[in-house]
Amino acid sequence: SDLAAAGQLKGKRVFIRADLNVPQDEAGNITEDTRIRASIPAIKVALEAGAAVMVTSHLGRPTEGEFKPEDTLAPVADRIAELMERKVPLISHWVDGGFELQPGDLVLLENCRLNKGEKKNNEELAQKIAKLCDVYVNDAFGTAHRAEATTHGMAKYAPVVCAGPLMAAELDALGKALTDPKRPLVAIVAGSKVSTKLTILKSLAEKVDQLIVGGGIANTFMLAAGLPIGRSLAEPDLVNEAKAIMDMMAKRGASVPIPVDVVVANELSPLARANRVASTDVQPDDMILDVGPKTSAELTSIVAHAGTIVWNGPIGVFEIDQFGGGTKMLAAAIAHSPAFSIAGGGDTLAAIAKYGIDKQVDYISTGGGAFLEFLEGKTLPAFAILSERAE
Ligand code: 3PG
Repeated sequence: SDLAAAGQLKGKRVFIRADLNVPQDEAGNITEDTRIRASIPAIKVALEAGAAVMVTSHLGRPTEGEFKPEDTLAPVADRIAELMERKVPLISHWVDGGFELQPGDLVLLENCRLNKGEKKNNEELAQKIAKLCDVYVNDAFGTAHRAEATTHGMAKYAPVVCAGPLMAAELDALGKALTDPKRPLVAIVAGSKVSTKLTILKSLAEKVDQLIVGGGIANTFMLAAGLPIGRSLAEPDLVNEAKAIMDMMAKRGASVPIPVDVVVANELSPLARANRVASTDVQPDDMILDVGPKTSAELTSIVAHAGTIVWNGPIGVFEIDQFGGGTKMLAAAIAHSPAFSIAGGGDTLAAIAKYGIDKQVDYISTGGGAFLEFLEGKTLPAFAILSERAE
């Protein structure tokens, strides 16, 4: 946007790397188009500034050089055309150029992961595609954790490089939540396994005032707190890690609230009978599938008094209504909290959609893996290279 305002995009060939990796059904229909919608502003800014615009993205994880019909960005081109009310030609085999572009033109370049060397961030490929443009814009926050030719390599060689408006907004929101947050800073991390989110838990444990855990992760923390969990999903091997996190947080006056009551059943099924029990009364045959009402009330109060909320993962099996009470209450609490709230991750977005609170969450990230890696405190390579170039 700054380059556009300074007139530096006029007449230029602008290459936008977006993340248009959207879910599709078997017939190739796009089932969810948030990422496409979120990528439109960058395209509009460049076109309105008088640039000739090419956009590319990966779609899925195709085998390089082996085109299968499901790999094509054709449905994405159609959706962009619909949203922008104009034609959007799709160009295949674009690495060597050979297509003419005039200012005001917009084309979509076919799935960049079909190009040999894309995934491996091949230097030669990066140099070649960098020659296609005068200005390289990385707006693909969802792929910022991958160092590939279009997300990293070409940023070394394109004459002018910058972050796009979506990338900038994502980094601003995440920075606001984690770098200099309004306190108390509350993180909600839920999911089936501690092991997949251990680095995130450890990284957040050093920063947040309260770390709300949910799902199988909470069960492992309950075990660490000496509570019975019956047949619930948990990782006994990681009990010591959970204890270490709780101890470390307690030392600095922060906490991991452990559920005082839970919703249990004998099976994970929409037909299962749900029972609320105190956490001390979970029986050997029980499976914990949600938090109970007392715990929900406690979590609601924590969220209501938060200055900043970072949300990743539903705290119960919310897809089945009788185990969705905790997630529903938490979603409502986030919606009503005056805190700055940011959410990300596939299941979280599904919960936000189910409980209709998308307008109340301050920022919903388009990143899955990238969002998680940011929470882990990792440097995102796509952003790192832009920063290097800026320096
Ligand atoms: C995502 O959907 O998380 C991004 O588009 C990255 O996709 P990838 O995991 O295939 O790199």
